[in-house]
Amino acid sequence: MAVKTSREIGSWSRSILGLLLSLGVVVTIAGMSACSSNDSEGSSEGTGASGGGGGAGGGEPAGPTPYELFLKIEPDLVANCNICHKKGGSAPAPFLAGETPEERYQTITFWPGIVVNAAEQSILLTHPESANHGGGEAPRIPENVKPGVITWLTAEADGLPDSSVDIGPSVRPFRPLPGGALNTVYLDALGDDFQYMSIAFFAEALGGTSDAPTMLRLTNITVHPVVDKPLHIVHPVFTVYVPGQPGDPDPVDSFSNLDQTFTLGGDNTLGTGEVVLTNWQKGAYLGIAFELIEVYGGNAGPGTGCNDLVNFQQNVVPAMQTCMMKCHGGANPQAKGTMDLSELNAMMPTAACQEVRARIKPGDPAASQILQVTDPVQPIVHMYKFDGDLNAYNAFKTKVEPWIMAEQQ
Ligand code: HEC
Repeated sequence: MAVKTSREIGSWSRSILGLLLSLGVVVTIAGMSACSSNDSEGSSEGTGASGGGGGAGGGEPAGPTPYELFLKIEPDLVANCNICHKKGGSAPAPFLAGETPEERYQTITFWPGIVVNAAEQSILLTHPESANHGGGEAPRIPENVKPGVITWLTAEADGLPDSSVDIGPSVRPFRPLPGGALNTVYLDALGDDFQYMSIAFFAEALGGTSDAPTMLRLTNITVHPVVDKPLHIVHPVFTVYVPGQPGDPDPVDSFSNLDQTFTLGGDNTLGTGEVVLTNWQKGAYLGIAFELIEVYGGNAGPGTGCNDLVNFQQNVVPAMQTCMMKCHGGANPQAKGTMDLSELNAMMPTAACQEVRARIKPGDPAASQILQVTDPVQPIVHMYKFDGDLNAYNAFKTKVEPWIMAEQQ
């Protein structure tokens, strides 16, 4: 990914940038590094590279590399999990595909949800704890192996900003039923608010030969929210996952301009309702990532409330007494619909806190929407950017960051 000058970026469509951002690609804008280097993670970003090598990156301080840490627990994972999670295993999730530890390393580190910012939230650790894992037949990670897994995943998480593993909110990849069959993807994994919501489509593999198709055509793509919970989707990206390779987003980014809200009983066709993925391969998995996906007005279920309301009240509320409050508080109906701050100044700003929390990535200020869209130097379309005042933006950032960190449990 070449580093672009600000002028070139300006002429790019907003959507491509959105995609890059949602892919976690770091775009360095010439002469504007003051802000991006100010990020609290203190990592050495700014190469503009889209990663792709999950392996041991150079320049790491002494100590074992993430790959070396993986090698320590790899035999245990293979012993306990491989039978179902190898390529062609009975589980629909071949995150251990590969003949060698090195190949398995590639697969597992690219599998969405495994390498994440907070190691203990990795599906590798959380999923096997569920009583339903593999229909109740599948094992957990043995207790004596868990510490090694956490050490490894933590080391991987430290390297995250440099890789392209993190595609933003996305549904787990699945194997679509081709041949014109109806596929239904449930959105539950995105959070409690999304329970019972789904996206459905017909899938047909095309091109090449039937043994080696080169395209996947999805038709009649429809979105199914539930009653009283409008679902807002911005820029969905269908992504092809070939085991052992990084996710490969729709090459033409078919839905780059999509911004749609779905209600039960309303028109539920996603954009044109159709996409042709020209990067398809036999045996690949399909995932869907979103620049933004949110439930409006949903009575937020357990888990989506704020963890640190006091911190929010003390730091974020005063910092938002600007145009933000005016626009999102009601003056601008569209802004209010997007993030409702009408109760920001309530005695207990629980509702406003939830609204804002839906637009941050807990524990990761740099990836938080409220800091991205208001950043005067980020070319994301948003009406309010502190009138271009970088100092004002930075002051806002300083106030909001501790709360964003505190929201990470
Ligand atoms: C007896 C077969 C079997 C074994 C052994 C097994 N699993 Fe699974 N696993 C499954 C099946 C089937 C699923 C999909 C159904 C489900 O969600 O539980 C699954 C799903 C998963 C998922 C979710 C993948 C995703 O993308 O959503 C993870 C993570 C996982 N297993 C981890 C493990 C780990 C770690 C081990 C070893 C400790 C393991 N599994 C051993 C059968 C197995």
